[in-house]
Amino acid sequence: MSAPILQVSQLTKRFGNLVALNGVSLEIREGEIFSIIGPNGAGKTTLFFNIIGLQKPDAGRVLFKGTDITGKSPHKICHLGITCTFQVPRAFANMTVEETVRVGAYKRYQGREMSQKVDEVLRICELEEYRHQRCSDMGLAHLRRVELARALATEPVLLLLDESGAGLNPSELTGLMDILHRLNEEMHITLCIVEHVMQMVMSLAQRIVVLDHGEIIAEGSPQEISTHPRVIEAYLGKRVVC
Ligand SMILES: Nc1ncnc2c1ncn2[C@@H]1O[C@H](COP(=O)(O)OP(=O)(O)O)[C@@H](O)[C@H]1O
Ligand SMILES: [Mg+2]
Repeated sequence: MSAPILQVSQLTKRFGNLVALNGVSLEIREGEIFSIIGPNGAGKTTLFFNIIGLQKPDAGRVLFKGTDITGKSPHKICHLGITCTFQVPRAFANMTVEETVRVGAYKRYQGREMSQKVDEVLRICELEEYRHQRCSDMGLAHLRRVELARALATEPVLLLLDESGAGLNPSELTGLMDILHRLNEEMHITLCIVEHVMQMVMSLAQRIVVLDHGEIIAEGSPQEISTHPRVIEAYLGKRVVC
């Protein structure tokens, strides 16, 4: 079993009276594809935001490769190697695909190295032919890949993906899953996917945790999760078809 790359312990986040995360603990191991699932409002996006420093938790700790990163600024955490793609693609509407990816790369690279990195990422995300297209002219599936490319250009070792499969048709989903597989297998990027698309979770993830009302209610392999009584009751309402 590989070493933990991210350790979240007893993380709590409140918004006024609402407890969005209530003592969440989990461990992501180096090189794996880990998934977090749960109904709307379970706290999945909040968990990501508290890991990447966009929000500060009220209690608990986040360790990355054994170093405490709790409450550090997003740019520091990104520089250490954790990047997130957002649920609503944040592509810059007026910018071209290439310019958007450059924004991701500029912290680490300059000049020729930057161009090489941008080329590499566009190739991996199968966006080369769209590089001069404006983001505002692109459809959802391509925008999600631009968002992925921008995130990859920051050179993450741990990539958090927030519902990157939402709204995609079956062939677009297959394309995205192929890319994610390559990131994991060929580039050795550890992935944490928050996802509603069960097909994606079940075929990509090695381990899954289920969040409900800010608490982890189950943890296990896709097989264990798909037959877990609490998951079926709280989240799925019916048996998962793998
Ligand atoms: N900035 C915020 N201010 C107040 N409440 C929030 C904020 N962000 C999230 N919440 C609330 O926290 C809970 C968890 O939200 P979220 O993390 O977005 O859930 P998920 O991503 O699992 O759908 C929800 O009840 C949501 O309304
Ligand atoms: Mg969310």
